[in-house]
Amino acid sequence: MDLVIPDKTHDESRQGEALMLEPKDGKNNGRKLYIESYGCAMNFSDSEIVASILSDKGFETTGDYSNADVIFINTCSIRENAEQRVRNRLKEFTVAKVKNPGLVVGVLGCMAERLKSKFLEEEKLVDVVVGPDAYRDLPGLIDKVDDGQKAVNVLLSREETYADINPVRLNSNGINAFVSIMRGCDNMCSFCVVPFTRGRERSREPQSIVKECTDLFNQGYREVTLLGQNVDSYKWQAEGGGQKSEVGSQESEVDGVVVNFANLLEMVALIHPDLRVRFSTSHPKDITDEVLYTIAKYENICNYIHLPVQSGNSRILELMNRTYDREWYINRVDAIRRIIPGCAISTDVITGFCTETDEEHQDTLSMMDYVQYDFAYMFMYSERPGTLAAKRYADDIPEAVKSSRLKEVVAKQQQYSYLRLQQQIGKVQKVLIEGFSKKSDKDYCGRNDHNAMVVFPVGENYKPGQYVNVLVERTTTATLIGTVIE
Ligand code: SAH
Ligand code: SF4
Ligand code: F3S
Repeated sequence: MDLVIPDKTHDESRQGEALMLEPKDGKNNGRKLYIESYGCAMNFSDSEIVASILSDKGFETTGDYSNADVIFINTCSIRENAEQRVRNRLKEFTVAKVKNPGLVVGVLGCMAERLKSKFLEEEKLVDVVVGPDAYRDLPGLIDKVDDGQKAVNVLLSREETYADINPVRLNSNGINAFVSIMRGCDNMCSFCVVPFTRGRERSREPQSIVKECTDLFNQGYREVTLLGQNVDSYKWQAEGGGQKSEVGSQESEVDGVVVNFANLLEMVALIHPDLRVRFSTSHPKDITDEVLYTIAKYENICNYIHLPVQSGNSRILELMNRTYDREWYINRVDAIRRIIPGCAISTDVITGFCTETDEEHQDTLSMMDYVQYDFAYMFMYSERPGTLAAKRYADDIPEAVKSSRLKEVVAKQQQYSYLRLQQQIGKVQKVLIEGFSKKSDKDYCGRNDHNAMVVFPVGENYKPGQYVNVLVERTTTATLIGTVIE
């Protein structure tokens, strides 16, 4: 089975990946857990934490919900249609509950946090509602349901980072892994529900991150993606205890020393030159030249930056509370181009935000012409209850206008994505082999530094998990095709 999904870090449309794990002893031994994840990479990463917590209590997972004792759905609230998808899926679970009245159905993640106990009133099928910071409580909450009660824990925390929990790597190709470096978000972009569903921003202790990445490398993994809503504001300050930290190549006491994102990137890059490092998401207001110089310095930190612009117009950016304007964003793009020549840049765009005029929409298109993004995720604005925008501004752009603007943005991006691929023809690129290509087991596929998928013939001298140099000969609309240079 091909488990490679393009840029898993950011595709909120993903759905329905079930997790498999081995049983352990415990009073729940043999009980079957089915867990399905929606939303961003943080949610997928959290499901691996949930699987770890429950595996310690004896649960084993199943990929088939019809024979499960516990069904968990890890949910996303980012747009209206993300929530609708979850509600539709819950309806399908009703059949399983009718067949097995002892079945426990739980809602985890962002929608659980947003709707809290209202979920229990709205969806009679649901027994447990658990927010993203309360997963350690899951075994106790399941006990409560077993005793015939409904159970809710949606407390947000200022400290929880699950730093000590060793995620169970599930549905994994054994090569790429996500590593969560921080949780929550303090930014309050006016359109965004995340600060309400994930709580305050907090950074995870750096040594636990380095240890997790080192363990992954030792198990054969060759690529880690460091995850946070705004990785550039990663910040850790040790208090007492005299822990040691290797920042740069020098070992130093970290008491009172601040580890920022550039330092952390360097610490992870130094684990091994064969461990590729990616990260997501960078915030245009916070990405520093220090981070860019660190990326440039280490060959194994990928030259790929996801830098969501949202809009190319300064008035709209202000209404969005993004805290940068068009000029600032262009300045950051110019800095990337100067410090890391040839670095790939991708983005997120929202069309039809409150009061956006046609001219302001043109500014988004002209920004796309300026940057010539390698890749973009593009969305129509979807008003989310409780956000600043919902409170302050009318959602006044008709759906038809939002949609026609989105079409223009998508059409432009298709041109640039294709152009960026075309520019690789004739170049030799280092590719980390991830497995067989989707279409044929005569071909391997893997990603280049820029995160583009490269397909090339299988050979005797190389296999998944290894790096090869590939001469790019041609492209399809989304893939590079080439041959290995021995
Ligand atoms: N922390 C990341 C974004 C996380 S959400 C950042 O700041 O870039 C992923 C993307 O979903 C956002 O970048 C935005 O483009 C989109 N998004 C968020 N809220 C939205 C909404 N209410 N309507 C439409 N798109 C939204
Ligand atoms: Fe949402 Fe903005 Fe935080 Fe990203 S930075 S998660 S868009 S509030
Ligand atoms: Fe992610 Fe969706 Fe929550 S994008 S943080 S799962 S609202």
